[in-house]
Amino acid sequence: MKFSPLVASVYAALQLSLSSALTISEINGHKYLSPYAGQNVTAVKGLVTAKGPSGFWIKSTTLDLDPRSSNSIYVFSSSAGRNLTVGDIITLDATVLEYRSSSAYIYLTELTTPSNVVRISSGNKVTPIVIGEWLLKWPPTEQFSSLDNWDVFGLPNNASQLSVKNPSLNPLIYGLDFWESLSGELVTVKRPKAVAKPSSFGDTWVTGSWRVSGRNKRGGLTSTDRDSNPEAILIGSPLDGTPNPKTTRLGDDLAEITGIVTQAFGYYRILPLTALSVTGSQSPDVAPVTTFTSGGSCSKLTIGSYNVENLTPKSSYLPSIASHIVNYLKTPDLVFLQEIQDDNGATNNGVVSSNLTLSTLIASIYNQSGTTYAYTYISPINLADGGEPGGNIRVAYLYKPTLLRLSPGAQIGGSLDANVVLPGPSLQYNPGRIEPSNAAWTASRKPLAAQWETLDGKNKFFTVNVHFGSKGGSSSIEGDYRPPVNGGIEDREAQANVTATFISRILALDPSARIIASGDFNEFAFVSPIETFQSISKLQDLDVVAGIPEVERYSYLFDMNCQELDHMFVSPAIAKKKGRGGVEFEHVHVNTWSSVAGQISDHDPAVARLDLCQ
Ligand SMILES: *[C@@H]1O[C@H](CO)[C@@H](O)[C@H](O)[C@H]1NC(C)=O
Ligand SMILES: *[C@@H]1O[C@H](CO)[C@@H](O)[C@H](O)[C@H]1NC(C)=O
Ligand SMILES: *[C@@H]1O[C@H](CO)[C@@H](O)[C@H](O)[C@H]1NC(C)=O
Ligand SMILES: *[C@@H]1O[C@H](CO)[C@@H](O)[C@H](O)[C@H]1NC(C)=O
Ligand SMILES: *[C@@H]1O[C@H](CO)[C@@H](O)[C@H](O)[C@H]1NC(C)=O
Ligand SMILES: *[C@@H]1O[C@H](CO)[C@@H](O)[C@H](O)[C@H]1NC(C)=O
Repeated sequence: MKFSPLVASVYAALQLSLSSALTISEINGHKYLSPYAGQNVTAVKGLVTAKGPSGFWIKSTTLDLDPRSSNSIYVFSSSAGRNLTVGDIITLDATVLEYRSSSAYIYLTELTTPSNVVRISSGNKVTPIVIGEWLLKWPPTEQFSSLDNWDVFGLPNNASQLSVKNPSLNPLIYGLDFWESLSGELVTVKRPKAVAKPSSFGDTWVTGSWRVSGRNKRGGLTSTDRDSNPEAILIGSPLDGTPNPKTTRLGDDLAEITGIVTQAFGYYRILPLTALSVTGSQSPDVAPVTTFTSGGSCSKLTIGSYNVENLTPKSSYLPSIASHIVNYLKTPDLVFLQEIQDDNGATNNGVVSSNLTLSTLIASIYNQSGTTYAYTYISPINLADGGEPGGNIRVAYLYKPTLLRLSPGAQIGGSLDANVVLPGPSLQYNPGRIEPSNAAWTASRKPLAAQWETLDGKNKFFTVNVHFGSKGGSSSIEGDYRPPVNGGIEDREAQANVTATFISRILALDPSARIIASGDFNEFAFVSPIETFQSISKLQDLDVVAGIPEVERYSYLFDMNCQELDHMFVSPAIAKKKGRGGVEFEHVHVNTWSSVAGQISDHDPAVARLDLCQ
């Protein structure tokens, strides 16, 4: 568009007269992006509420009570705040900037290159907003954004972006809108509780005195269908430079927090005035051990499952993994393991065998318990299954040869041998990998199918040990892409289909077959790949069959959520023994409940006690 000089100067004068009187809430607007982004504003008036290493925050002296409005804003400048004191009322000129350090993040509206900073008065009272104190300042507990179509894990991912749609804020319904409506404000969180462990920077997710959904017995928030807890807020680096503690644990109580709401590194966060301090922890101090011990026969077989996080023969924590299997899982009769590395770990030299990794683990278990295990697995093709480069992670089974054996008559499959369900039903390879050449498994772990029996040969059952593709490449749950990108979901979708189709062939031959599929599915029960897995396989989720409350279904901590990546599924013939106490299951929170330093793996193990008698 081209203006005549006259029109242009009238337009400029109009802009000037409009912007000269802007309040901070007008600059922020009622959407994600400022209507004044990129423009210069003059004589913006505000009370200095806090100072940080690269700027300071001001709050309007004429408050807009619209709940969508933030009355505060960040002024980015390493020098302009130097002479200012919290409690000063000032005016300044500046440029309105939408800033983000990555295109995957939500923008922060801020003022930059301030000039004409004039102090009007000093020693004014600064009063934080207490979150949760009145209705309009209660964080929503379920939905993140109006662009998520009511499901933050729904498909398609990244259908739109907040920076493009720039929706009007609805802070009563959407959590991101709520935190955006407080951007720049000084707030107080009363009765904070840690709902995760600190990051390596000491950043810690908390809830406050407000109503929450999804609280589990340990004090964390569990992610459930259409509820992934936007009411939690990350506490970032303290403004006074003190360090947040690194030893905080799930469910810890903290001293009251006052700080500034901001947006950085893909998350809304509060920058506290000073470091967090832990005032109390949950009891008992450590997770309880399982109550399910083996009955030593088919009617009470115990099944463990554990992602042991890149275990090698030389892992310093190998004896601790053994100790978890011995003391917390009570040496289950059969253990599904994931993330067993090859015999020289991440050394990338063509070694793919895991004999030494597994025999070392078995020796450590024997040392600690006198229990003898045998193992079985199939090596991947070197470097073909993803994970830490050179580590060649794979799934494996440990079993008690005094109780169980692999059903005889079939050879162990090779890395590229696709297992086949034969009449019986039985397996062509025992164990054997499921469709190892299918493109679904590119750079991923192939599931290992096996058929087992008690030593009298009378009670047979099948197992499938899985470790689906990771969520690497996901975008932040509080990021710009809505719904967020759930990294690798197409792979997991295809993997679920291939694995479940194989299982369905066993049930087609024998609807009463006993089948257990367990492992790290890298996905939640209410997200598409697991729904596909269940609908094709007809296996049942053991959490549901065993009646574990929804909020207690977790094996992993990520962001603000306790979440379940690890699952065990059973066939109808196993599930139907529930009435006679034949189906018991629990997650053993030995890692999620411990401090970062005390954690042995990033996943919790699980243990089931099942009646597998024919
Ligand atoms: C804002 O002010 C700066 C410094 O005076 C000037 O360089 C810039 O062109 C102005 N921007 C606009 C959009 O008027
Ligand atoms: C701070 O105040 C001193 C003394 O009044 C003055 O010389 C200096 O220019 C001021 N600095 C800024 C960044 O305003
Ligand atoms: C999300 O979509 C936007 C717009 O199409 C695109 O620029 C961006 O790369 C996408 N992000 C991811 C992670 O796919
Ligand atoms: C690993 O052990 C199996 C039997 O337990 C044996 O057949 C195989 O040769 C061993 N592999 C290596 C590389 O030693
Ligand atoms: C088992 O215990 C013996 C004797 O204490 C020790 O020498 C050996 O290193 C232990 N092995 C493992 C794998 O823990
Ligand atoms: C599973 O895969 C088959 C074969 O590729 C396809 O026909 C079917 O639609 C898929 N099922 C689901 C639920 O994705």
